[in-house]
Amino acid sequence: MRIKERSYMLPDGRKITIKSAGPEDALKIKLHREKVCRETHFLAREPEDGPWNLEMIKARFERVANDDREFMVDAYLGDELIGELGITGVGPHVKYLHRAYLGMSILQEYTGEGLGSFMMATALKQAKANGYEQVELGVYSDNLIARHMYSKMGFKEYGMNPRAFKLPDGSYNDEIIMAYIFE
Ligand SMILES: CC(C)(COP(=O)(O)OP(=O)(O)OC[C@H]1O[C@@H](n2cnc3c(N)ncnc32)[C@H](O)[C@@H]1OP(=O)(O)O)[C@@H](O)C(=O)NCCC(=O)NCCS
Repeated sequence: MRIKERSYMLPDGRKITIKSAGPEDALKIKLHREKVCRETHFLAREPEDGPWNLEMIKARFERVANDDREFMVDAYLGDELIGELGITGVGPHVKYLHRAYLGMSILQEYTGEGLGSFMMATALKQAKANGYEQVELGVYSDNLIARHMYSKMGFKEYGMNPRAFKLPDGSYNDEIIMAYIFE
């Protein structure tokens, strides 16, 4: 599905359009992901993992756009994609249908301006409306900004996956498991 389009105003007055990207945006998604992976180690992928496959992105976004429950919340400044958030069902089995998984990233230049909180609030409201009972995510233990934002939005920390990530410099990082359970 695609969410209803809406706007978010950055503190300097620039208008951000919030809507769901589709297969037509595959190249923008690819460029966004490649850029954000170069900017931070907080995502699963490293630039060494190679370029994103455009055909796979297109197929995935086609599938999400046609799914009843899964959706994207994307942020555009003019034509540029500056942030993305995805809500995906954890699994197709009956016992998993109440659970959604969330991932998000914003270009560094646009972080710390409330955009992430706005995208998250939009996603939580839509996830609940789509029948999910909880939204789950994993976050690097040293990603203090993300952990702060998620806690502020109502997520709770439920566990830790030790040494979940091994960085190119050989250091390890734990993954903190968080969930937002709808009342
Ligand atoms: C994590 C992320 C999505 C947050 O989005 P954002 O737009 O920067 O978040 P917001 O501006 O809405 O909120 C950030 C909060 O962190 C706070 N913050 C800023 N710097 C901080 C720091 N060094 N330590 C703790 N909190 C900090 C802000 O004050 C704000 O909190 P407040 O609303 O209580 O004042 C975004 O920074 C991002 O995409 N980062 C890079 C990729 C990433 O880490 N993705 C998440 C993977 S799990």
